[in-house]
Amino acid sequence: MLAKNDKIYIAGHGGLVGSAIVRSFKAAGYTNLILKTREELDLLNQNAVTEFFKSEQPQYVVLAAAKVGGIAANMSSPADFLYENLQIETNVIWQAHLFGVKKLLFLASSCIYPRECPQPMKEDYLLSGKLESTNEGYALAKISGLKLCEYIYQQFGKDFISCMPTNIYGPGDHFDSTSTHVIPALIRRIHEAKINNSPEAIIWGSGLARREFLHVDDLATAVLWLMESYDQKEFLNVGIGIDVSIKELALAIKEVVGYKGQLVFDTSKPDGMPKKLLDVNKINKLGWHYNISFDEGLRQTYKWFLDNVVSDKE
Ligand SMILES: NC(=O)c1ccc[n+]([C@@H]2O[C@H](COP(=O)([O-])OP(=O)(O)OC[C@H]3O[C@@H](n4cnc5c(N)ncnc54)[C@H](OP(=O)(O)O)[C@@H]3O)[C@@H](O)[C@H]2O)c1
Repeated sequence: MLAKNDKIYIAGHGGLVGSAIVRSFKAAGYTNLILKTREELDLLNQNAVTEFFKSEQPQYVVLAAAKVGGIAANMSSPADFLYENLQIETNVIWQAHLFGVKKLLFLASSCIYPRECPQPMKEDYLLSGKLESTNEGYALAKISGLKLCEYIYQQFGKDFISCMPTNIYGPGDHFDSTSTHVIPALIRRIHEAKINNSPEAIIWGSGLARREFLHVDDLATAVLWLMESYDQKEFLNVGIGIDVSIKELALAIKEVVGYKGQLVFDTSKPDGMPKKLLDVNKINKLGWHYNISFDEGLRQTYKWFLDNVVSDKE
């Protein structure tokens, strides 16, 4: 059972997910969080990670550091995605095990389910088919991290667990033009159409593909709940269990942005998988549910974008 002054290392605290995890642990009264930038602790460096665990002796670890990227980056540098993620995971998870960490939570990702997975995707479907080739290196590394936790749990009886979050969005998301997160890309595109008085905003694909999105602060409450209350070997999906079409999403963003022009769907661009949705029955039955409505989440995200991304430029 975590005490409020236990030493908890949040790896990747500067990222979209890590920063929300820090907010949620602080809000819950945890006072002894260990946070290290990449400059202070490069997780690719095994000696540095060993020294860190030796000197800091954290009791709990949340591993939210990873090399994360879009399709183009994953396709052009699969070796980097496989190597860096394997290295970060083996360094952190194994040293945490060697230095007596009581509990560790590893964040995997729903994009590691097989390409032709039945929908909604149950936890049992992991490793039941071929992986999506565009992010195979990333997926193999994530599956290895998840399995390393399971095996440590099995072999050493330690509370090393994993979760499988769906697509995440929210304040702190990456809005640069190379980002392939759907929500920030659509917010940017529709916002720019509004600012430029364009009569139409072009949306890639038919708009028919369906995706699930979880607010980053909801994921952070799930991480807190998992650290405080879940101690089984089996990893859990984390999502809302509801999907929306890209067209519905774009219309909701149009409303939030206040854009009056037309949305035009460019069907010459690929849609990707027709549907991707997690089965979240397990985590729901155990007691965790999402809380932030999609409209509220989109409003917060657009406000964050206006305050933090465009405020200096317009
Ligand atoms: N975002 C999603 O939609 C989503 C969905 C499912 C699962 N997840 C999982 O959630 C985790 C976090 O994702 P995110 O979206 O928050 O990514 P992110 O914003 O890119 O954050 C990743 C963090 O990891 C740090 N990091 C990477 N390599 C490092 C290294 N060698 N040494 C030290 N720190 C390093 C980064 O530091 P720098 O800032 O220095 O690069 C950054 O703080 C990942 O495991 C991801 O698979 C994310």
